[in-house]
Amino acid sequence: MRILVVGATGFVGGHLLAECRERGDTLSGTFRPGEQLPMGDGVSWHGVEVLDSQAMDAALAATRPEGIVYLAGQANVALGNRDPVNTFRINAEGTLRMLGAMDREAPDARIIVVTSAEVYGVTAQDQMPVKEDAPLSPRTPYGVSKAAADLAAAQASGSGGLDVIRIRPFNHVGPGQRRGFVVPDFASQIAAIEVGQATPELKVGNLSARRDFTDVRDIVRGYREALDHGKTGEVYNLCSGHSVAIDDLVRELVDRASVDIRIVRDESRLRPSDVPEFRGDPTRAQRDFGWKATIPLERSLTDVLEEWRRAARSSTHLPD
Ligand code: GDD
Repeated sequence: MRILVVGATGFVGGHLLAECRERGDTLSGTFRPGEQLPMGDGVSWHGVEVLDSQAMDAALAATRPEGIVYLAGQANVALGNRDPVNTFRINAEGTLRMLGAMDREAPDARIIVVTSAEVYGVTAQDQMPVKEDAPLSPRTPYGVSKAAADLAAAQASGSGGLDVIRIRPFNHVGPGQRRGFVVPDFASQIAAIEVGQATPELKVGNLSARRDFTDVRDIVRGYREALDHGKTGEVYNLCSGHSVAIDDLVRELVDRASVDIRIVRDESRLRPSDVPEFRGDPTRAQRDFGWKATIPLERSLTDVLEEWRRAARSSTHLPD
């Protein structure tokens, strides 16, 4: 398939390009002008700011995609609290502009619009695992930006007549994720402590929250499967169906450390509003395109910790 990945240089984009490459797809990707690009990767690259409709039109006209995966956005919930306006513009207005460009330049393509579990906000215990027909009731500025994007995508596929699928991924984890998310935040500190670059104190935020983690390699397989087999206009959760307390997650990681580490609460990591639990129901994705999460969390944690250990040993820091 001729695929355009919009926002292809991030954590998820790299994994999605690898998944598509393995399947023999013809690949194009967008990057933000000024970013450094991987060389010789067989991807046709196009510089696009998501709020620049002209550049998006040009990228679509040049690549004529059959499938588009829209990954561009501001993915950090804590940053959304600090900068709600830009988060809203990038996530909501960016999606709206993408759909407008598609209407003009690629009206026959299929697009996967990636939103978030954060659109659901707080779900009562007896309503979990949360299904796709639960109300949109976000609790964070980031969640609001993704709920607006989700609604824009619903309208484009309904009265707008475009072939749109919305996917709401829950937390994902795996190699390449940058600091600012919980697993790399913890793993990078452990790796630095092990090589003596930091005192043996692991700084943490809210440990009582529970999150539903899926390996990013499973998530991108879901996006690719949805391009082939998802239903037009449908919305899908991608998640494991189980939640893990951040408290258990930190202990799992600290248990793997080669030195003793003390867990210390860092007030600056607490958020004004943190949804207590996300736990999703992935049944619909399984029913329509046979997707389910396969990589155990233990393996994802090992892979991420090893990645940060390699970086700490060679003293080359991964970008944060
Ligand atoms: N980042 C971070 N760093 N989170 C911490 C820390 C820390 O040091 N300590 C505790 N936490 C808690 C957060 O308060 C939150 O409850 C949980 O760990 C997970 O935080 P993140 O990894 O930052 O992810 P998130 O749940 O806020 O959002 C992720 O999942 C969404 C889907 O549910 C992101 O990947 C979003 O982009 C995604 O849409």
